[in-house]
Amino acid sequence: MSQSAPTSPCAPSSPAPRTRPFPWALAAIVVLTLACASAFWWITHSTPATSVAWGREVFQGKGRCSICHEVRPGREPVRCPNLVSIGRDASTRVRDRSATEYLLESLLEPTAYTAQGYPYGVMPAVNRETIFLTPPEVRALVLYLQSLGGTPDRRSVAAAEKRFPIPPPLPPAPRAPRGDAQAGRALFFDRQRANCASCHRVGDLGGDLGPELTDIGLVQSAAQLRQSIVKPNAEVTVGYRLWEFRPRGGGRRLGIPRNETPDQLELVEGVGRRTTLRTVDLLARIPHPGSPMPEGLLDDLAVTPQARDALLDDLIAFLTTCSRGP
Ligand code: HEC
Ligand code: HEC
Repeated sequence: MSQSAPTSPCAPSSPAPRTRPFPWALAAIVVLTLACASAFWWITHSTPATSVAWGREVFQGKGRCSICHEVRPGREPVRCPNLVSIGRDASTRVRDRSATEYLLESLLEPTAYTAQGYPYGVMPAVNRETIFLTPPEVRALVLYLQSLGGTPDRRSVAAAEKRFPIPPPLPPAPRAPRGDAQAGRALFFDRQRANCASCHRVGDLGGDLGPELTDIGLVQSAAQLRQSIVKPNAEVTVGYRLWEFRPRGGGRRLGIPRNETPDQLELVEGVGRRTTLRTVDLLARIPHPGSPMPEGLLDDLAVTPQARDALLDDLIAFLTTCSRGP
């Protein structure tokens, strides 16, 4: 051996090179190690188990799903279906969709198929306002939904994406800063004026004749809120529908049934007006098309349509800023 460096044991036959072979071997080891580490990361972070956990996180957090959907068994669905067994039920919904295609379509194009008995257009598309999920988040979410009563299967998600590709999140619609949230808050709680709080809870205050509105701004756009306030009869939230009951003794009772058992129910006929009716005393029950929320609540408070719109903007500003956040 001349002045040249000792040959590396990894390359015994290298022909007395000018450059030292040793750094190449080291580089190869580094590259191999990195490759192994990233393969390990990929395997541990993308197995169905981990992604289901991630999907659950998205469901409860950024996806805001749990504001509307229940996944615990036995819970009455209110605003939306209970998804406790959607992993199994998805295959029964639409004839020419696989279960996974149905789930993916439900998230991306919720209006394509509306679950029976539920209002059209309430479920937001998850890649748009107000949720903005990215494609990997949507995939994880589908795995989580599959796991509810079924088996998560990543290959079926990849196959379903061929028919329903997941687009990147759309940018938020530009918003003109309208409405004064403080004024809206005052109006919401003002007993002499709108008195929304007599029926709706926000935070720790308010009644329960109507749905709680604390987080409504996280899941409904300003346009949807506007429609709910101006035209309550257009879409009546599930769980708050009116029924007309015909008691045996004659007459009619109109109200929202609550806490129903086979023997009895509680009828909410107005703020603070609850009575218990026994099923044996009822001849008939008929669904009533209108909403328990009165129409035109703001009309008496404003002289012109512009003034009414300004009040509406204040209420919407309040409802979109009062949310606790996911
Ligand atoms: C503003 C309330 C709301 C939010 C938030 C919401 N959904 Fe829904 N979702 C609904 C309503 C209402 C329906 C039933 C009507 C329909 O099918 O469009 C529904 C239907 C569904 C269905 C179909 C259910 C069935 O029985 O066929 C799935 C699946 C679903 N939602 C998943 C989700 C997931 C996942 C999220 C979170 C990213 C989410 N939803 C967020 C309101 C909501
Ligand atoms: C007499 C009781 C009552 C009053 C007063 C009332 N609401 Fe309602 N509201 C309801 C009921 C019941 C529903 C659910 C039925 C429906 O969707 O129409 C509802 C639904 C809503 C919804 C849709 C909620 C959802 O889950 O989609 C919004 C938003 C709303 N109300 C806002 C208001 C505002 C703002 C006021 C005050 C200007 C107000 N409400 C006054 C009873 C009331």
